[in-house]
Amino acid sequence: MTASDVPNPVPAKDWSAFQFEIYLNGLAGTVPRLPTDLTRLEEIAERRLGPGPVGYVAGAAGDGKTVRANREALDRWRIVPRMLRDVRQRDLSVELFGTRVPAPVALAPVGVLSIMHPDAEPAAARAAAAQGLPFILSTASSTTLEQVAEAMDSVSAAAERWFQLYWPKDREVTVSLLTRAAKAGYRVLVVTLDTWLLAWRPRDLDQAYLPFLRGVGTANYFSDPAFQAGLAKPVHEDLNAAVLHFAQMFADPAKTWADLAFLREHWDGPIVLKGVLHPDDARRAADAGMDGLVVSNHGGRQVNGSIGAADALPGIARAVGDQITVLFDSGVRSGDDVFKALALGAQAVLLGRPYAYGLGLDGQAGVEHVLRCLLAEFDLTLALSGYTEPGQLTPDALVR
Ligand SMILES: Cc1cc2nc3c(=O)[nH]c(=O)nc-3n(C[C@H](O)[C@H](O)[C@H](O)COP(=O)(O)O)c2cc1C
Repeated sequence: MTASDVPNPVPAKDWSAFQFEIYLNGLAGTVPRLPTDLTRLEEIAERRLGPGPVGYVAGAAGDGKTVRANREALDRWRIVPRMLRDVRQRDLSVELFGTRVPAPVALAPVGVLSIMHPDAEPAAARAAAAQGLPFILSTASSTTLEQVAEAMDSVSAAAERWFQLYWPKDREVTVSLLTRAAKAGYRVLVVTLDTWLLAWRPRDLDQAYLPFLRGVGTANYFSDPAFQAGLAKPVHEDLNAAVLHFAQMFADPAKTWADLAFLREHWDGPIVLKGVLHPDDARRAADAGMDGLVVSNHGGRQVNGSIGAADALPGIARAVGDQITVLFDSGVRSGDDVFKALALGAQAVLLGRPYAYGLGLDGQAGVEHVLRCLLAEFDLTLALSGYTEPGQLTPDALVR
């Protein structure tokens, strides 16, 4: 048998088949263009991509304690495999906010992806759509939300897209962004709570590098009629004034729990709060009628010295796991990380930096490679540990 005898790459459902596909391609002399151990992507990106962009993606708050805490929190747990259970038929699909998706993974909102690759968010969104997985578009994207929606539709009309909101100070701009997102088919609103201010990020500071000040990562604002209404001159006539206006209204550190009612009023679909780390905040989210939350410390980019996200997960899952959907990110790099996060109470995980590196190194194909590696490894880990569905995972599958 040779690679050319094999039908097209196995789509969505049989995730582990990617492993066989890689070996078969090897018979035709082809090896993967990117590593299959996703922890190696960062080092390759550091070598091949520009220091500003890769510093922005890899960088963290302070000296990186929280990035390390995220890894330690996951690494503290060990999987305890179980034997002699029929694991031939597996189904990785999960239901998220009323829609079934083929695996418990979504692409995290990552802003300003054009610094990694000229095809930017549309390429990442097409990759997610091609694999049937939800794509969460950042407000701070380098491409408009309408362009990203179009890119996803070109692959699959069924592809799930969610919109992440950096909640602006300005009410009109907020309503305008929400209205545009709903019209463009974004179904779930993900509201980020941990970035009312930008943290102290030495890698960016040392290079004095912040893409937004160059007007990159501002497409959703600059294209917005309510935003434009606040400018004396059109964006293309006075970029500096537009950037300044953006910087002033980007976020509002005065927001409190009481303000969530405003979002409910202006968003009909599910609302998810991103950046929750304390069980009491999780309870408040549930009490406020939110549909879900993301246990996350923004990949260690905000509060240096904060709790590792996986250390926060079990307490939050115990507090609200039976009331609202609990998602997880910050530190997910492998299939066993996905396994652990689900066992600790998450219904799905968001993948961040690894897909940004995949994009930077190989565009849409790079993002698809990253997703397929992650899910093949998760599928195999699940099977080899004696499970066939994400819903079977509980803390009993792990030991500390
Ligand atoms: C370069 C970069 C940009 C990001 N931009 C956003 C963003 O625009 N909105 C947001 O909610 N989170 C943003 N995040 C955080 C991610 O959504 C996610 O929480 C984080 O990447 C998880 O950590 P990990 O990548 O180390 O696993 C960004 C992260 C990175 C690395």
